[in-house]
Amino acid sequence: MRIRTILCRAILVVGTVAALPAAAQEHPARRVANIVSVAVEEYGKAVDATGRLVSTQEYQEANDFLIDAKRAAERLSGATAGPARLLLDSIARAVTLRRSPATLDSLERRFANVLGNEARLELPRRQIDLAEGRTIFQQSCATCHGVTGRGDGSAAARMNPRPPAIGTADHMRGITPALMFRITSIGIAGTPMAGFAGTLTPDQRWNVVAYVNTLRTTREQQLEGEGLFTQRCASCHGVSGAGDGTLARSLTKLPPEIGTVAWQVEHSDEQVALVVREGMPGTALPA
Ligand code: HEC
Ligand code: HEC
Repeated sequence: MRIRTILCRAILVVGTVAALPAAAQEHPARRVANIVSVAVEEYGKAVDATGRLVSTQEYQEANDFLIDAKRAAERLSGATAGPARLLLDSIARAVTLRRSPATLDSLERRFANVLGNEARLELPRRQIDLAEGRTIFQQSCATCHGVTGRGDGSAAARMNPRPPAIGTADHMRGITPALMFRITSIGIAGTPMAGFAGTLTPDQRWNVVAYVNTLRTTREQQLEGEGLFTQRCASCHGVSGAGDGTLARSLTKLPPEIGTVAWQVEHSDEQVALVVREGMPGTALPA
């Protein structure tokens, strides 16, 4: 499990980032794609498969993000701008009509395909640097989210909505690293949560996301997890999750590369916990 392993091995030296180099202005296509992705993810928590509303708050947030996306889409240019705006209208309509989250997911995929390469999630280019992530968190997030991410920063009490406890397992259960990265990039319109795409490079944003992900587990829990993975999972998945365990060759279907950054950032704790608990019927993955 690459990110987790990196997290365990990284040396927690507290460095200081004196002056953060300002990131280049975010590409409009990337910004719109990030906002739409967050909107569709919120929508998935707002409405069930039959279109029934299960959370008015998440539904409202999805709508707010789409208003934000429309504004950002005005800055798109070139041949893809027209088709992208039309698809964005279809997405907004599908939300109004409460289509199934699966319908929204497929509309979002089409939208991202129209926008092309610039719209793809930017993965970390360098090795994750937890020490830098920690420094950025203390400088740019802790006044609101709290020094250990409990939502109790010095400015939090006066805030509405309150900064969530992003350092706790409970709050982060359903939030993938990719979603965190996108929210950290674009912010949440109409709330004190600003976007950091203009001030932190993508690698700096990944470092702070990775650091926040360390806050919800203790060192003991990580070591226990590493031990269990070696004993129970590595025979198929390989010690670093590359799908190259000794048993893997005898499987009819190879396990996915769950150790890669690309795989991990798209999966939440909840998703991983579910497959570990229940396995995948009809496959070699046991419950
Ligand atoms: C000025 C206060 C403030 C600062 C600084 C701030 N946040 Fe936030 N953040 C908030 C608030 C308030 C919300 C909740 C907004 C809402 O409920 O819609 C939030 C929400 C979030 C969320 C969404 C969590 C969820 O439940 O979906 C993430 C992730 C996040 N912040 C990460 C960060 C990171 C990382 C930093 C620093 C790089 C940061 N924030 C800095 C106030 C802040
Ligand atoms: C006997 C071999 C085997 C063992 C042991 C095993 N897995 Fe798997 N695992 C698989 C296979 C095969 C798949 C792919 C299933 C498929 O999609 O057809 C898989 C898939 C997964 C997935 C991806 C599920 C998804 O959403 O695509 C996760 C996460 C996972 N395994 C975690 C674990 C963990 C954690 C353990 C140990 C507690 C473990 N596995 C043990 C064979 C194994």
